[in-house]
Amino acid sequence: MTTVTASEAAYVVAALLFILSLAGLSQHRTSRSGVVWGIAGMVVALAATVGLASKSITATGLVLIAVATAVGAGIGLWRARVVEMTGMPELIAIMHSLVGLAAAFVGWNGYLDVDAGSHGGEELTGSLLGIHHAEVFIGVFIGAVTFTGSVVAYLKLSARINSRPLTLPGKHVLNVGALVAFVALTVAFVARPHIGLLIAVTLIALALGAHLVASIGGGDMPVVVSMLNSYSGWAAAASGFLLANNLLIVTGALVGSSGAYLSYIMCKAMNRSFISVIAGGFGTPAAAADEGEQGEHREISAEETAELLRDASSVIITPGYGMAVAQAQYPVAELARKLRERGVEVRFGIHPVAGRLPGHMNVLLAEANVPYDIVLEMDEINDDFAATSVVLVIGANDTVNPAATDNPASPIAGMPVLHVWEAANVVVFKRSMAAGYAGVQNPLFFRENSQMLFGDAKQRVEDILRSLDALDTPVREMAGSTR
Ligand code: TAP
Repeated sequence: MTTVTASEAAYVVAALLFILSLAGLSQHRTSRSGVVWGIAGMVVALAATVGLASKSITATGLVLIAVATAVGAGIGLWRARVVEMTGMPELIAIMHSLVGLAAAFVGWNGYLDVDAGSHGGEELTGSLLGIHHAEVFIGVFIGAVTFTGSVVAYLKLSARINSRPLTLPGKHVLNVGALVAFVALTVAFVARPHIGLLIAVTLIALALGAHLVASIGGGDMPVVVSMLNSYSGWAAAASGFLLANNLLIVTGALVGSSGAYLSYIMCKAMNRSFISVIAGGFGTPAAAADEGEQGEHREISAEETAELLRDASSVIITPGYGMAVAQAQYPVAELARKLRERGVEVRFGIHPVAGRLPGHMNVLLAEANVPYDIVLEMDEINDDFAATSVVLVIGANDTVNPAATDNPASPIAGMPVLHVWEAANVVVFKRSMAAGYAGVQNPLFFRENSQMLFGDAKQRVEDILRSLDALDTPVREMAGSTR
């Protein structure tokens, strides 16, 4: 077998491994094996690509590939080791920006390569040349949009810039205008290729990517991250066409379509229109109506919360980003266990975009060995709050904000939220009265049945555990003295 056929066969194996990986990642229990399949697929893909390249490049070229692989792998290992779970979305966003940049470079290279008359050693003519130029243009466009879009997403997610939506006058006209210009320039480029047209589309795409993501508000960023994931897949597929690399086409299409499907599921969960997301059309800041005077909030101590819990018959815990920051999942799991031992019905209510990653809260609770059967999705538990004695809101904010249902002027209006305010008592664990990720004040904190338990969530839950033990002590002593 020649190196080329062996490499093409290895590509099929790698593509199958990537499909197995996606299947594994779709379920909690099989996600570890999904990661292993993915790593194996990538190793096969890399080896096959180097095998293919070795037919046409010099020894110096191979050394350069080895150095680039070692440096890239080193940086990847280092970042993956040091990144906090809460920092994953911004790491993913910056990775997507690299995919976009690579696709834009491959597109530019495809143009310069043919311009110099050496497309892989063959001369392109007629309609093949036209197709090649269309591939170049589309690849550069998708790559550049993905690049700047991901950089802006990274800056927003890491709080380096404000997460509020940018609202330039006529923003929709700007976006549609950029798309129309892209189509017109593509036609012109295929008819008569010129470097000026390629420069123009690169600049338009860079501006469009930045504008699309900058126009989207903080609360809607989860959808943006998965959309950029999808764009990066299509950018890779476009590069695959240019490089005549089947594996890149297959892998890009897998990432592109699974990212688009994830975005669709998230849009449904957040009651947003899929088309609006692609067009960067939502996240418009509402009138500042919801930021007005909210009234007084009440505070509660850890001891009082322990008493409330001791007397409760049912408790729902709704965790959010703050639980992840505080790493409070272990004492929270211990609290759930203790209350259940006392006969209290304890369940967890999980919002689909709580935290900063899809499934973020599920992963943390599984890490702390909370049984799966008491961890319920928002739709499964939302009708039960009204019959619940105590809700513990642990570091959640936007996902429990009643303004989403009550205030049509709110930037998060229409987003489904956990109806925690319907419970008899709500205790909110946070460090201050600061707003959540979407930058919107939360009227929940000022409701009559809500009380604030200020401080780091982990420390406060540990305080409650101690108080519960202290509340138990006199009971045991009394029981002992009557024997
Ligand atoms: P957020 O609205 O982000 O609020 C988290 C709260 O935790 C804050 O109000 C903060 O208040 C509190 N907090 C932070 N550190 C804490 C600590 N050590 N101890 C106690 N409290 C702490 O949380 P959420 O309800 O989970 O909502 C998630 C938000 O992120 C949504 O807007 C969502 O759209 C967005 N988002 C989600 C994702 C995904 S895929 N899940 C991705 C990107 C963005 P203090 O500062 O006062 O303590």
